[in-house]
Amino acid sequence: MVKAVVLGASGGIGQACPLVDELALYDVVNTPGVTADLSHISSVAKITGYLPKDDGLKHALTGADVVVIPAGIPRKPGMTRDDLFKINAGIVRDLVKGIAEFSPKAFTLVISNPVNSTVPIAAEVLKAAGVFDPKRLFGVTTLDVVRAETFTQEFSGLQDPSKATVPVIGGHSGETIVPLFSKVAPGFKIPADRYDALINRVQFGGDEVVKAKDGAGSATLSMAFAGFRFTEAIIKAAKGEKGIVEPTFVYLPGVEGGAEIAKATGVDFFSTPVELGPNGAEKAINILDGITEQEKKLLAACVTGLKGNIEKGVEFVKNPPPK
Ligand code: 2OP
Repeated sequence: MVKAVVLGASGGIGQACPLVDELALYDVVNTPGVTADLSHISSVAKITGYLPKDDGLKHALTGADVVVIPAGIPRKPGMTRDDLFKINAGIVRDLVKGIAEFSPKAFTLVISNPVNSTVPIAAEVLKAAGVFDPKRLFGVTTLDVVRAETFTQEFSGLQDPSKATVPVIGGHSGETIVPLFSKVAPGFKIPADRYDALINRVQFGGDEVVKAKDGAGSATLSMAFAGFRFTEAIIKAAKGEKGIVEPTFVYLPGVEGGAEIAKATGVDFFSTPVELGPNGAEKAINILDGITEQEKKLLAACVTGLKGNIEKGVEFVKNPPPK
């Protein structure tokens, strides 16, 4: 039995991953403080921090194997993730330009919202620079999976909710998030009278946090957990561990097995379980066969929303708005 207590826990909590030898931090402000703080953790990782001055982005990215992008502003109550587009789109575009220049072979993991648009933005930037490898670009949708595992625990009966596999496909906002409760493993049933509420809770779980934080931002700690889980999966797979599958938002036509899913859904960017390997996304797994009528309806609403989000991201890079 371990009881952990964090007093004064309103700030950020950093985790140093045992699989990382060097951790470079970059931000437009406050990087020195976060760097000093993280550097006291007794892990093997060497911590370095950079600000934009003195070619900070270049130094942070040079030699990178994995780049995680949570940069941008978070939501306030009443905002959708799409409301963040105006600011975060430009931030992600400029950071990915840096990746294209200084670490084009790195695995790039996008957390910045709206993920449904920022991943297409990243893809377009990498394409324009001639370095786009769809197997190495990921939208992190793990928090939706984590929420689905947590919120269904009373039905799975598992003491550790993360031991359940609850596939969540589609995108990462509201109706574009599609939990497939018919595909859970080990199999368990969601009572019919609880189904709609549970779907809604997974789709709009982020809003619960935004509301509870009351203007102070959106999920950071559960997001850190989810981001860490996905990053760890990418690194383990890159090191040769087999059988790692995680849902993630990828460019389907560029990943083996993806074309079939793109054809079935009508969208090129989509989150689906992906088998990870040394080169990144080795195989997109189609789990659409045999989904229920209810899930087909959810998927139809998802695709409608997703199409607009993807188009908006692509357009932003192809026809940039006047400054
Ligand atoms: C969430 O789902 C922040 O998008 C993140 O809460």
